[in-house]
Amino acid sequence: MFIAIILRMYRLIYKSRSIGPVDWELVNQIISSSEAQNSQDNITGVLLATDSHFLQVIEGEFEELNNLFMRIARDTQHDNVQLISFACIESRLFGGWVMHGIGLFDFNAELSQQLIDKWGEEDGGVRFPVQEWQALALINDIRNAQNQSKGAD
Ligand SMILES: Cc1cc2nc3c(=O)[nH]c(=O)nc-3n(C[C@H](O)[C@H](O)[C@H](O)COP(=O)(O)O)c2cc1C
Repeated sequence: MFIAIILRMYRLIYKSRSIGPVDWELVNQIISSSEAQNSQDNITGVLLATDSHFLQVIEGEFEELNNLFMRIARDTQHDNVQLISFACIESRLFGGWVMHGIGLFDFNAELSQQLIDKWGEEDGGVRFPVQEWQALALINDIRNAQNQSKGAD
């Protein structure tokens, strides 16, 4: 008799406020210090940052994801950690990235304004939504804009 072990995949999304101003140095420091742990735990995802806020999507198995979120929630580099969603998924959306950083603080004025017009403004930057579908739609908007600008090069 076979006992099938089904490893279910989950996606967790949260938003938080950075304690200090956010720049590439901070984002790259968070990402490079996460890489070894995330690859060991088979976690993938994306980390968005404005000057003041983070929005992170992490994907993996339940226990690893839960443990990572508990560590992240305790991290004193940010506060106001708001859990947006933690749900079982069919497949990863960000499987190609151990953790991919997107610095919205670095976007050109036109794209920043387009995103603010659509998603609202917070502390002078784009407001990260606190609904799952909106968070994923914002990431989709950014990927489309980045693909378009690559095509225009
Ligand atoms: C916005 C943000 C995102 C983070 N993302 C990750 C991550 O994807 N993986 C990770 O291992 N640590 C991440 N960290 C770091 C963790 O919060 C924590 O510092 C690290 O896992 C070490 O935890 P420990 O000191 O309790 O062992 C992140 C921190 C911040 C502020």
